[in-house]
Amino acid sequence: MSDTRQSARFVAPEEIGELARKAVSRAETRQWSIDELSWAALRPEELTETDRSVVRFITFIEDHIPGYLTYFLDALPVSGTDLAIEEICFNREYFRFLISWANDEERHAAVLTRYQIEAGMSSPEVLTRELAEEGRKKFALPYENPVQAFTYTLVQEKATQLFYQRFKAVANEPVLRDLLHRLARDEARHFAFYSELVGAYIKRHGLAATVPDLKDVLSTFRMPLADTLNGYWRWSLKIMDATSYDHTEAYEALVRLVRDFATSRGNASAIDLAEFVHRIRGM
Ligand SMILES: [Fe+2]
Ligand SMILES: [Fe+2]
Repeated sequence: MSDTRQSARFVAPEEIGELARKAVSRAETRQWSIDELSWAALRPEELTETDRSVVRFITFIEDHIPGYLTYFLDALPVSGTDLAIEEICFNREYFRFLISWANDEERHAAVLTRYQIEAGMSSPEVLTRELAEEGRKKFALPYENPVQAFTYTLVQEKATQLFYQRFKAVANEPVLRDLLHRLARDEARHFAFYSELVGAYIKRHGLAATVPDLKDVLSTFRMPLADTLNGYWRWSLKIMDATSYDHTEAYEALVRLVRDFATSRGNASAIDLAEFVHRIRGM
């Protein structure tokens, strides 16, 4: 790997370290616990069939956290004497955010699992095995460059945030509404970190060098588990219909981010990305 290619893969460890510290500190101030929810106020009779179906769907997605975490630990290794020290430094600083993020996502999985049990939708015996059956399918992303994995996650965090907000707007059950509000807030926080991180790449390497990687991610984008979860496509179409949700809305967040960096020199790349997204979304 040439030096130029190597440098385009990373930003300075101090920089990602600073972003990670900020994000972890935001996570600590906004921490919440599963026991805080008013479980006694749960009214399963308020749940429609669609609500139940969506809750089951998002439990699968959130509960894949062991798989997501494994992917990132493999993609950005923190050990190995063959790696350049700069790369190890970068990966170790990212790791500090990663475990805090994984802790949030694990809480999402646990709260949704508890919700299914409390609402009488499933039993621990059935659910544990059902989730493991999906959870053991390997999660992978087809990207070479870390900035692409970060961009993928940026879009995915924004998409889940928007989806939880949309679902909350049509759901009536009070505990579910509270839960969705908390999930959406956490996803917004995760989006903020990835947005700052992709921003740091743009600042360091410029729009012209970064936008091709971003386009590559958008042109192949699929929500997590789209290729592995049993019945994913039919299920997700029904859900999109019931909540008037479309994950490509999240692409606009990337267009806005890039636009914020557009100077006269990088403006052509920003316009190019905006047009690219509008073409994908129009399809
Ligand atoms: Fe989540
Ligand atoms: Fe998230």
